[in-house]
Amino acid sequence: MKKGIIIIDLGSQYNQLIARRVRENNVFCRIIPPRGSLAVIRSTQPNGIILSGGPASVYQKNSPRLDKEIFSSGVPVLGICYGMQLMTKALGGKVTHSKKREYGHAALTLDSMAGIFKSLPDRIRCWMSHGDHIKRLPEGFKTTAHTANTANAAMADASRGFYGVQFHPEVVHTERGNTIIKNFVKEVCGCRSSWTMRSFINESVKAIKEEVGGGKVVLGLSGGVDSSVTAVLIDKAIGKRLYCIFVDNGLLRKDEAGRVKKLFKDNFHLNLKVVDAKKAFLKRLKGVAGPEKKRKIIGNEFIKVFERESKRIRGVKFLAQGTLYPDLIESQSAFGGPSATIKTHHNVGGLPKKMRLKLIEPLKYLFKDEVRSLGKELKMPYSALWRQPFPGPGLAVRIIGEVTEERLRILKEADFRLMDVIKMSGLYNKLWQSFGILLPVKTVGVMGDKRTYENVIAIRAVTSMDGMTADWARLSHEVLAEISSNIINEVKGVNRVVYDISTKPPSTIEWE
Ligand code: XMP
Repeated sequence: MKKGIIIIDLGSQYNQLIARRVRENNVFCRIIPPRGSLAVIRSTQPNGIILSGGPASVYQKNSPRLDKEIFSSGVPVLGICYGMQLMTKALGGKVTHSKKREYGHAALTLDSMAGIFKSLPDRIRCWMSHGDHIKRLPEGFKTTAHTANTANAAMADASRGFYGVQFHPEVVHTERGNTIIKNFVKEVCGCRSSWTMRSFINESVKAIKEEVGGGKVVLGLSGGVDSSVTAVLIDKAIGKRLYCIFVDNGLLRKDEAGRVKKLFKDNFHLNLKVVDAKKAFLKRLKGVAGPEKKRKIIGNEFIKVFERESKRIRGVKFLAQGTLYPDLIESQSAFGGPSATIKTHHNVGGLPKKMRLKLIEPLKYLFKDEVRSLGKELKMPYSALWRQPFPGPGLAVRIIGEVTEERLRILKEADFRLMDVIKMSGLYNKLWQSFGILLPVKTVGVMGDKRTYENVIAIRAVTSMDGMTADWARLSHEVLAEISSNIINEVKGVNRVVYDISTKPPSTIEWE
């Protein structure tokens, strides 16, 4: 089942999109860097290869290269944009630089409705983004599509299963682009739709059983989607030999620790230990105001507590983590752009190598939406699978300045009121995140006939696709009014509420 498609990463910003499109057909795929790709192809014998696009030019020094042997491995290849140009050069055709860069929509006329273009109309809109173009096709190839500016917008050598497209079928701007990918994957490569979450569960359970044998596994459960699904999956394989540790650092949203305990211990009967470490975290955070210092302290304290608790499990040999595929690709990509740096900055600590535990990462080939389908298949409740992201350092980075017990109380209560209105208004799943921030200023107010001098709560609610960019949510005045009056009337110590109307960039989602 694992054979599927290999996507070779030639630097395209759309790599993960290509993978998503392949997986939509219930076909497994992996993204690998060009270096060493021939060995991977030889050892895994995929059904097909997709060469991604990329910003480079094939004649540029240091541009991504491929071992030509790949084209002699008998495996069908689809080259997209730069991938098509690289294939052309490798097979003896000619690529030249265009005077004018073609970028955006173009009308594509199909000259052949076979192979990857099977069952397509003869004209579609496609998305172009290239500087170079194919001047002469390699031997054995035919032109299969053109646009007004690009004579060889697509090419094929059906006898060898080689296809090239100058445009991007993986982006939504290309009409029927998903059919093109589907045709390649299913018709040309003959992949079967065997990559389903049900089959994934069976395979993973078997693999985990084999790997762990009679051993013990420890896992840090955060209550987030990734660690939760990992826990339930491993529990299915080895039951009570999975030791879940939930560290209650006191920096969670109101009632969160209780919710996690109820779901996993009472409903799923996981072997879960809830460690109450609230006091220790607060003690370490005393007098600390800097955001990065807070993050470091929280990360280190978590590791300390986790390590101490793990040591109590006699003979534990494995550490399970909810690593997902995008994390893996970013950390191995030869072209890790700015997004790679942003991610590492957000990862809280890494567990120390000296623990000498063997890593088990059963979700490491899954995308987030697949993890959610997996959780659904494992009968996990909707509310546990569709949660807004919550930062590792928790409310500590939403209390600007020092974290104290009283300030935590104020933020937890205010945030709870806010969330209540958001959920009751049906907005929870429409927003990427919604939360309160406690500011380090006090303002004057009036309550009854007395003047007050109390705290300000800022409301942050954003829409976003991936957290990399975000827009402030256009919450209705009614919703804002209800949040504000609930907080001010019900939370002692708050006399003012403000709404954050900043986009990311240049602001960030969190305030610290
Ligand atoms: P920013 O504030 O950088 O946040 O726009 C982007 C996303 O990352 C989350 N975030 C964190 N997650 N540890 C985490 O695990 C952190 O230190 C951290 N800081 C920000 C934030 O909630 C948003 O979803």
